[in-house]
Amino acid sequence: MRDYDTVLITGATSGIGYELAKLFAADKYNLVVVSRFERTLHEVAEQFHALGAPNVFPVVADLSIAGAAANIYQQTRLQGMEVNILINNAGAGEHGLFCETSIERDLSIVQLNVSSMIHLTKLYACDMLRQKRGRILQLASIASYQPTPLLSVYAATKAFILSFTDSLINELEGTGVTVTALIPDPTRTDFFRKAHAAQTKVAQNDLADPADIARIGYEALLQGKHHAVTGSSVKADVIMSNILSRESVASRARKQMEIVS
Ligand SMILES: NC(=O)c1ccc[n+]([C@@H]2O[C@H](COP(=O)([O-])OP(=O)(O)OC[C@H]3O[C@@H](n4cnc5c(N)ncnc54)[C@H](OP(=O)(O)O)[C@@H]3O)[C@@H](O)[C@H]2O)c1
Repeated sequence: MRDYDTVLITGATSGIGYELAKLFAADKYNLVVVSRFERTLHEVAEQFHALGAPNVFPVVADLSIAGAAANIYQQTRLQGMEVNILINNAGAGEHGLFCETSIERDLSIVQLNVSSMIHLTKLYACDMLRQKRGRILQLASIASYQPTPLLSVYAATKAFILSFTDSLINELEGTGVTVTALIPDPTRTDFFRKAHAAQTKVAQNDLADPADIARIGYEALLQGKHHAVTGSSVKADVIMSNILSRESVASRARKQMEIVS
């Protein structure tokens, strides 16, 4: 019998989270899949089941609302499910100058990317610690390393995620629970459209395939690696962000976020 059987994935209906769920399903893990829209969630749940997941439990939740994480945890407890892999994948951003985005949208991004992520991790990681086994995957970003004008709140949440992850990696060393940060190349998903960033320079690049990114994250997670940086451009950006001044890093990042005509 393998060490882990039940995986909870937030944002399993699209992009990287969807591709991760397919990999776990094909390897016959039980799945708890979370996103906002019931119909889509049930459609993908059927697909994951057909791919090989013995049990797929869909949970409709809006993680941009306080209390959603506790509600998800309660539902899995009521089902008697012991989640031993947590994938904190759901995330969103909003393109624009800080003074031109709405405060409601900014705060909902912080709740989704940061507060709900912390809350889910608090609930499930502490259970994993008691069991002395577990794996957690955190969706970081190149934005974790670089302040990003025109995507400022998103970038700050991703810096938070990486800092938080690195602290947990240290705290959980030797406990049987590991935490992995996945740092993807810019990837061909719905992210840019939803963030009103489809016309930015970065979104015109040859974007990575979400299936490839998911495969790298999946393998790194199961091996208990600390970080998985997925491609040469993102690796180069990480190095540059350690060499250049903060002002230069922000200026380079801004160029990628400018709208192209
Ligand atoms: N794409 C990239 O270039 C890139 C690069 C670095 C990091 N990332 C990170 O990768 C993660 C996945 O993004 P993606 O690129 O795969 O984007 P995506 O295709 O837009 O997928 C986002 C997923 O999160 C779910 N979600 C969004 N808001 C939610 C909410 N309030 N409550 C619950 N679920 C919610 C979405 O489902 P519903 O909308 O159906 O609820 C969807 O399943 C994010 O954390 C993102 O920051 C992406």
